[in-house]
Amino acid sequence: MNNIDKGLEAWELNAEFWDKEMGDHSNYFHRDLVRPHTEKLLEIKPDDLILDIACGNGNFSEYMAKIGARVIAFDYSSKMIELAKKRRSEVLDRVEFKVCDATEYQQLLSLKQQHSFDKAVANMAIMDISDIKPLFKAVYEMLSDNGTFVFATHHPCFTYPNKDYFTSCIDKGFAIEGQPALQNYYHRSISEILHSAFDVGFVLDSFYEVPFKNKKTPIIMVIRLCK
Ligand SMILES: C[S@@+](CC[C@H](N)C(=O)[O-])C[C@H]1O[C@@H](n2cnc3c(N)ncnc32)[C@H](O)[C@@H]1O
Repeated sequence: MNNIDKGLEAWELNAEFWDKEMGDHSNYFHRDLVRPHTEKLLEIKPDDLILDIACGNGNFSEYMAKIGARVIAFDYSSKMIELAKKRRSEVLDRVEFKVCDATEYQQLLSLKQQHSFDKAVANMAIMDISDIKPLFKAVYEMLSDNGTFVFATHHPCFTYPNKDYFTSCIDKGFAIEGQPALQNYYHRSISEILHSAFDVGFVLDSFYEVPFKNKKTPIIMVIRLCK
């Protein structure tokens, strides 16, 4: 079994725990650290068509739908998608949940709608995805001209394993203490992440570094790319 399979196996095992912990309204980490910046950069408008990448239990998909956006949300854990559909039953007229692997270019292209996506978002998932190149390429192709891709991810300067910032590697960890299985974390330097974006044509449009409350070191970074 390769690491990608093991990553999926862990998320299938963690899906119920994750859904219960995040609940209807998500946790402090998402609500207070991630969402304010993602929301600011995404500038969600009613009738936007938005791709929610690695959507988990759909907490942000529902949030965007309630603003009036139409959302295609996907995750590679079929258990997670089953739970998202159950929990977000109120907004299924505006959110379509699908199982898709973000490392599979052709699968990603099958998410394409009649109209191009206005925006794409990935909250706390880039560091969970084993290969981000197919994702960046497919998202670029599926976005409309001037479309934006916003993602929040671990700040790699402050969370890297092995005392070697520049070398990509896989680490094990947990998103929420007590989760049944450790997940894979894919460490990449900021330049590696950004070059995966520049190589397909994106330009860097905005950038935030966000610490925990009252801390002086950022824990996440939030990036907006523009087509
Ligand atoms: C930390 S959770 C974040 C979920 C959600 N975006 C949120 O903010 O609540 C990471 C998610 O990434 C998903 N994931 C990891 N690798 C993936 C891949 N290759 N394709 C699709 N989803 C993936 C996991 O199943 C998990 O639901």
